[in-house]
Amino acid sequence: MPTSPAPADPASYRALELLPGREAIVVLDQRRLPHEVRYERLCDCPSVAESIADMQVRGAPLIGAAAACGYALGLQSRADDAALDRWHALLAATRPTAVNLRWALDRVRAVVAPCPPATRAERAWVEAEAIVAEDCAINHAIGRHGLDLLEAIARRRHGAPVRILTHCNAGALATCGWGTATAPIFLAQQAGMPLHVWVSETRPRLQGAALTAWELRERDIAHVLLADDAGAFLMQRGEVDIVLVGADRVTAGGDVCNKIGTYAKAVAARDCGVPFYAAVPSPTLDFSIEDANAIPIESRSADELLRVAGLDADGSFTRASIAPPGSPALNLAFDLTPSRLVTGLLTERGRIDARRDALAAAFPERLG
Ligand code: MRU
Repeated sequence: MPTSPAPADPASYRALELLPGREAIVVLDQRRLPHEVRYERLCDCPSVAESIADMQVRGAPLIGAAAACGYALGLQSRADDAALDRWHALLAATRPTAVNLRWALDRVRAVVAPCPPATRAERAWVEAEAIVAEDCAINHAIGRHGLDLLEAIARRRHGAPVRILTHCNAGALATCGWGTATAPIFLAQQAGMPLHVWVSETRPRLQGAALTAWELRERDIAHVLLADDAGAFLMQRGEVDIVLVGADRVTAGGDVCNKIGTYAKAVAARDCGVPFYAAVPSPTLDFSIEDANAIPIESRSADELLRVAGLDADGSFTRASIAPPGSPALNLAFDLTPSRLVTGLLTERGRIDARRDALAAAFPERLG
């Protein structure tokens, strides 16, 4: 873990806010973006579980942090040994793929379990607060290492904008600050580097169109939205300098599980000679998984594919049907990018090759 606290993300929005009285957490409702900025107070563990499952909060680091807070809220109402298991199980069942969720819950349980029930909630809050602060520091460190990469590209571009392609949302909205894949971009902007971000829309939940584009607009960073499949063609035309994405789980050998559509971008990047980097905070590493096929891939409701959500002409939220009634749909939320297609992993400990020995050398304390 980084030892020094990170500078606070200067963004005007926060995906997750902890309250001093510890009676609730406040989350930004990501289902309403980009149309409405609405914050909601969540006061108990079942509400936090529902918020994660329904993707009101989403993104691997954020769901880990929110789950830790949900665990603390749960222990405030009941903290005997049965409750310790029950709250853990309720939160762990919300989303299966991002390992940060289980990592955070296991971390809280490990420190809380030896305590007497009367003190468990308070101890859980201390740990949840540490997870939130560490996430922000980790992401800022990822940003510093990624900035080196972007600076090298900027030198080659002689003042022309550095053209970054990203997929899904690995921004501040997916974390407790700075984002992972976006942290180098935000630091590059602070350094005055000209930037141009290609944002792939990320069907079906549209995290690119709705969330990444919104974050970039909020921060005044030049960006253009793309249909998901357009990225490969832009790479072929030489219009992308680097692909930067996040990750939901990375295996011991450096295979990257991330939002569906990531693998196709990595294949195109390799074919076109474009560097492909995944930003990976250490809680996203899963050294217990050797074979990426063992990662549970979330399969979400077909309805998310069959009906597109948005604002209608009156400005009301609506869901428009786009397929013949009765057509089945398969909504796989994540895919697997083999390490051989990954140019490097951006971690808080630097830029690391997507290889078992490199990861083990960088994070020896995480080996079993
Ligand atoms: O389904 P989501 O929106 O939670 O998926 C998010 C992603 O796939 C992100 O790329 C990943 O969690 C990294 S976020 C820093």
